[in-house]
Amino acid sequence: MEHRTRSVGIVGVGNVGVAGAYALYLREACEELVLVDMNKARSEGEALDLMHGQGLTGRMQVSAGEYADLARCQVIVVTAGVGQKPGESRLELLENNAKVFKSIAEQLDRYAPSAIVVVASNPVDVLTFMLQELSQRPKHRIIGTGTMLDTSRLKTLLGEMYQVDPQSVHGYILGEHGDTELAAWSTVSIGGLAIKEQSVFGLAYSDEKLNQLAISVKQAAYKIIEGKGYTNLAIGVVIARLVEAILDDSKTVLPVSVRLSGEYGLNNVALSLPACIGGKGVEKLVELPLESDELAALQSSGETMRGSLSNIGF
Ligand code: LAC
Repeated sequence: MEHRTRSVGIVGVGNVGVAGAYALYLREACEELVLVDMNKARSEGEALDLMHGQGLTGRMQVSAGEYADLARCQVIVVTAGVGQKPGESRLELLENNAKVFKSIAEQLDRYAPSAIVVVASNPVDVLTFMLQELSQRPKHRIIGTGTMLDTSRLKTLLGEMYQVDPQSVHGYILGEHGDTELAAWSTVSIGGLAIKEQSVFGLAYSDEKLNQLAISVKQAAYKIIEGKGYTNLAIGVVIARLVEAILDDSKTVLPVSVRLSGEYGLNNVALSLPACIGGKGVEKLVELPLESDELAALQSSGETMRGSLSNIGF
C-alpha cells in the first residue's frame, strides 16, 4: 500500500507555534512539519534549527512554507495572533485575533479543505467557534486545544498533593479555557477512587484545599506571563498530544473545545468537554452526569462565550 507521509502544518511560528513544533519533533509524531508565518525569515530560521536535531532524533522534514504548502498536511495547527500581556485576560485579545482568523479561514479552505484544524490561539473557544463558522469544512474537523492544558495543570498539582504520577489522576477542567472555567471535582479520581467521596492515600477531600488548587490552575497563565512574558512549553505538549490522537486515529478522550448543539443545555458555543478524538476530528462527545453546581458553572461559562461571540457578530 502506498505510504502517505504524516504531515503537520503550523500557522503562526511564534513562541507557541515553535513549542508545538518542537514537541511534535521530539515525540516523532509526524514525518513532516510545514511552518507558515508572515515573517518568513523567522519560520526559515526555526525550520533550519529544528532540522539540525535529526542526527539525534531521526528523519523529519521541516520546512518554512506558504499556505499552498499546507495542501499535503493532514492536520494544521493555528497558533497565529497575539498573546496575553501581563494582567491581560484571554478575552481581551479577541478583537485583534478575530481579524487575523478571517484571512486564515480563507487560506485554509483554499489550500487544505480536508485537513483537520487544531486551534491554539486565544481566546481559543471563541476563535474555534468563529473558524467553524467561517470555514466550509464540517465543524467537527475544527478543534480547540481548550482545557487540555488546564486539565494537565490540575493533574500536575494533584499529583504533587497526593504524591502520585499525574497521569494516574483522572478528571477534568471544563468550560472556557480562561477565567470562567470550572474544576469538575465529581469527575476527579485516583486509582478508581473518587477524591470527593473518599480519602485517597490517607488524604481526605477538603473543599478549601481543592478550591485553592482550582484557583492556582486558573491563575497559572497569569503567573507564568508575569515571569517569562508568555506561556508556550506546556501548550506545546498539548498541541503534540492532540495532533497525535488525530494522526493515529487513536479515539483518545481529551478535554478539548468543541461545538455544542444542545448538550448540557448549551447551543451555538464552543467550549471544553471530554471528547473522543480520532482521524475524523471530534468523533463523539462524553455526556457527563455533572452535579448541579457544576452544570450551572458550565452553563454560565457558555453564556460568557456566547456573549463574546455576539459582540463580534457571531
Ligand atoms: C495558557 C495559554 C496558552 O494558558 O492560554 O498557558
